[in-house]
Amino acid sequence: MEARSPALDGPVVQVRGLRKAFGSNLVLNGFDLDLRRGENLMVLGKSGSGKSVLIKCIVRLLQPDAGSIAVLGQDVLALDQEALDRLRVRIGFLFQSSALYDSMTVQENLEFPLRRHWIARDPKEKETLVEEVLSAVGLPQTRKLYPSELSGGMKRRIGLARTLILKPEIVLYDEPTTGLDPVTGKEIVELILKLQTAYNTSSIIISHDLNVAKLAANRIIVLHEGRNHVEGGYDDLRASTDPVVRSFFIFM
Ligand SMILES: Nc1ncnc2c1ncn2[C@@H]1O[C@H](COP(=O)(O)OP(=O)(O)OP(=O)(O)O)[C@@H](O)[C@H]1O
Ligand SMILES: [Mg+2]
Repeated sequence: MEARSPALDGPVVQVRGLRKAFGSNLVLNGFDLDLRRGENLMVLGKSGSGKSVLIKCIVRLLQPDAGSIAVLGQDVLALDQEALDRLRVRIGFLFQSSALYDSMTVQENLEFPLRRHWIARDPKEKETLVEEVLSAVGLPQTRKLYPSELSGGMKRRIGLARTLILKPEIVLYDEPTTGLDPVTGKEIVELILKLQTAYNTSSIIISHDLNVAKLAANRIIVLHEGRNHVEGGYDDLRASTDPVVRSFFIFM
């Protein structure tokens, strides 16, 4: 086996002392995170705890007030726009809603990131990539459909396909199961796990869904009051007597 440099064996995402406030609303207050290669790391936090803000900071859609963020060995906060764009191609981002363009077909939606990043300009090559990713998410016959013709679960799959078409090394999932019924949610989680193996990605999954925690997370960080509150596996959290942790299990 080829030897890997130490830099490649370090965390693929490292966040230290992350702080972000909106006016007097202090959302993140010294949050830390390490994502190891090949890992599914989950950040569990209640609504409004700053989960979406956290992943937006990681890809610098939001500018943090303090702290450091390294992704694939690069200092995200120090990059110029061009370097940031290049890095973002290597990071997939699945938005909280599927965020498909309603006026575009599935095919056009999937080609959008390719066009934006100037990848695969040849139409035939684009079509091949679209077909490949559609069959990976189990929806090979949907190229010509519009989002309004898809169910919620199908839209989520297409959103996933659009994230994967750039073959990212890291994927950030924002609430991948929200708004789906439990069975469809479970299918999406199983698909995420399958694709993670197929595409060899490392993931941060942001959610308050304990089913996601149970099925998919190698490690869970509980985000509370802007900081790391508790960290562990699903079984550790299940057994915890900490009131914040217990509050997630209220219906279980
Ligand atoms: N662009 C923004 N401007 C001002 N305040 C914001 C902005 N984005 C987020 N916030 C605030 O930051 C806090 C955390 O929001 P965030 O969207 O990260 O919550 P969340 O944990 O993702 O919640 P949910 O589970 O409901 O998605 C909220 O109080 C929100 O109002
Ligand atoms: Mg959110």
